[in-house]
Amino acid sequence: MKMEFDTGYRKGNFGRSSLPKKPNEIMRVLVTIAVGMMFGFFIGVSFPSLSLTKLNITTALIHDFVIIGDKSTANSTQDTASTSSSSSNQVTTDVSKIWVPSNPKGAEMLPPGIVASESDFYLRRLWGKPSEDLTSKPKYLVTFTVGYDQRKNVDAAVKKFSENFTILLFHYDGRTSEWGEFEWSRRAIHVSARKQTKWWYAKRFLHPDIVAAYDYIFIWDEDLGVEHFDAEEYIKLVRKYGLEISQPGLEPNRGTTWQMTKRRGGQDIHKVTEEKPGWCSDPRLPPCAAFVEIMAPVFSREAWRCVWHMIQNDLVHGWGLDFALQRCVEPPHERIGVVDAQWIVHQTVPSLGNQGEAEDGKAPWKGVRQRCQKEWEMFRNRMENAEKSYFKSLNFTRNT
Ligand SMILES: *[C@@H]1O[C@H](CO)[C@@H](O)[C@H](O)[C@H]1NC(C)=O
Ligand SMILES: *[C@@H]1O[C@H](CO)[C@@H](O)[C@H](O)[C@H]1NC(C)=O
Ligand SMILES: *[C@@H]1O[C@H](CO)[C@@H](O)[C@H](O)[C@H]1NC(C)=O
Ligand SMILES: *[C@@H]1O[C@H](CO)[C@@H](O)[C@H](O)[C@H]1NC(C)=O
Repeated sequence: MKMEFDTGYRKGNFGRSSLPKKPNEIMRVLVTIAVGMMFGFFIGVSFPSLSLTKLNITTALIHDFVIIGDKSTANSTQDTASTSSSSSNQVTTDVSKIWVPSNPKGAEMLPPGIVASESDFYLRRLWGKPSEDLTSKPKYLVTFTVGYDQRKNVDAAVKKFSENFTILLFHYDGRTSEWGEFEWSRRAIHVSARKQTKWWYAKRFLHPDIVAAYDYIFIWDEDLGVEHFDAEEYIKLVRKYGLEISQPGLEPNRGTTWQMTKRRGGQDIHKVTEEKPGWCSDPRLPPCAAFVEIMAPVFSREAWRCVWHMIQNDLVHGWGLDFALQRCVEPPHERIGVVDAQWIVHQTVPSLGNQGEAEDGKAPWKGVRQRCQKEWEMFRNRMENAEKSYFKSLNFTRNT
């Protein structure tokens, strides 16, 4: 009994600080101290120059240090444990190891206090106290997918978003440095990947855990006229009416396709509309309600968490997503709406369309348009099949 207690004790955190008894353990402690001193020396040498190669050496040292530390503990515990029974060894080993099932998947070996599972786009400085880095923490995020040719329009749009917004630009033409001419560009985040779409970037750079700091997320095109739009006022209305997914009303005289997203005068917001006969199977479902388009959507944090999961990695144009947004909020016809009091003009500049490839003598935009329609069909089919197999797995048949 006495032996077992001793073993368990030495394996816990206290075991490492207990006095060494054997000569080789003393040796190990000395080596550890020496390595620690060298480590400190290297930090001192390498930090002022910040040379990459030297940093590499320190990294390698940290690595070795950790491994030496682990091995010596493992060996010393094994030495003492070998005298006691193997079953007690099993139990005590489990206690000394960290395993936290409630941690995020893959991080179970970490003590929960060190796990940072969410992030933000706040820019920090390289010096001073980390706790004093941020003078403000914007609660809203706006992203624009941009090409440099549209800079005037994007500049006008960005200026409608106050300092309470983090600005994130996705560059599809590879021209990022030119944006330096705008004062706001320095506090913006620039992500560059050639010829990709808004939804491609959104899937890759706007993971819900990455944008968890933001109450609302605007995922906007670059060709929107914002003369009659103010972002702070917009947020006030969205909060007031509890809209989880929304968009500003569209100026009606600019070839809009859907009744729902047309701006109406003399009111704050609307949530339902009438469409052409036969277009809506249910007045509470798209496109008569629970519907916004994909050019200028605004998501609450919670709604975005759901929508992000629905975006397909290969269906980059996002066509059909607008009809499926209603799956992410409850009840959809109450929580999805169009803000009339803050409205925009869709200028339909086929900018990204021109980044396609000419194929069989067809104009580039034709190939892009074809793919959009094909993707819409694929998305619809995937959603239908996913739903079918889900209900099938429950042995439940729906009457639809
Ligand atoms: C750092 O070390 C790794 C291997 O340990 C090596 O592949 C890499 O090139 C090194 N990097 C630099 C900047 O020296
Ligand atoms: C740990 O023990 C193994 C075999 O028992 C030995 O090969 C290894 O060198 C030891 N490691 C240390 C750091 O003492
Ligand atoms: C930014 O947010 C703060 C706090 O909500 C608010 O008081 C301030 O008016 C906002 N700034 C602008 C320009 O609206
Ligand atoms: C559904 O039915 C199959 C065959 O009748 C059965 O094996 C399965 O366990 C059922 N599944 C559920 C979730 O009830």
